Amino acid sequence: MAANEIKAKNLYSLNMKNGCLYETIITTQNLKGEYNAAPMGVVCKNQDEVVLYLYEGTKTLNNIQNTSTFAVNITQDPLIFTETILGDVSPDLFEDYKSFPVLKNVDGFFLVKNIAKKDVVRKDHLGESHLFIITAQVQEIVKNREYVIPLNRGIYAVIESLVHYTRIDMVDDEKQFIYWRRIKEMNRVAQKVGSSDDKKSMQRIIGAIKEKVGDLDEKFKERIN
Ligand SMILES: Cc1cc2nc3c(=O)[nH]c(=O)nc-3n(C[C@H](O)[C@H](O)[C@H](O)COP(=O)(O)O)c2cc1C
Repeated sequence: MAANEIKAKNLYSLNMKNGCLYETIITTQNLKGEYNAAPMGVVCKNQDEVVLYLYEGTKTLNNIQNTSTFAVNITQDPLIFTETILGDVSPDLFEDYKSFPVLKNVDGFFLVKNIAKKDVVRKDHLGESHLFIITAQVQEIVKNREYVIPLNRGIYAVIESLVHYTRIDMVDDEKQFIYWRRIKEMNRVAQKVGSSDDKKSMQRIIGAIKEKVGDLDEKFKERIN
């Protein structure tokens, strides 16, 4: 173990909360031993288990199906997220931990064991898709810094909505409609991935908007489907 690595007990030591979905980078290996890294959402089911929802056709899903393992890397680095989607991920980005690829320079990571897979068809706002639900037990957690904050979109949804709230009574109807549509989208995100406090905050903001400028669903009912 490197000098700056701290072993952690369970997912709560990574500040994960039950039911929240965190944006992470999943690292895997194919049968030829080639490394892969991709952003994926990870739901904290309880202190020792995570759930992933993987769409068909990703290398990540193929590798997990073939090797039955993966690592969850925790970072807030925008360039890591961007490069793992848009760029060719350089082998220099990886290091080995107990013979498994993880990312260098992340805040922490964990390896998993006992993967269970279920395949379902899901309908959401993007239409119908074929998904694999992967449940896995946390095997070993390593923190590279004392305090790790896993990335959750709930707080950003609340902050974006609050910014719009402060301006929603100062703009013309066109802009107000745009703000309201964004707030509704932020509410969808917070309800799906956020903490109970994020969800509570969104309800408060939506209630306060109604008090401030009236019922915007009613006002824009012709335009909101
Ligand atoms: C923040 C973020 C979260 C994502 N979460 C998921 C997810 O939970 N499941 C999924 O199938 N794809 C998810 N994606 C899309 C995959 O990262 C994307 O399809 C990627 O190209 C897959 O790479 P791979 O083929 O190397 O596995 C996410 C993308 C981003 C940017």
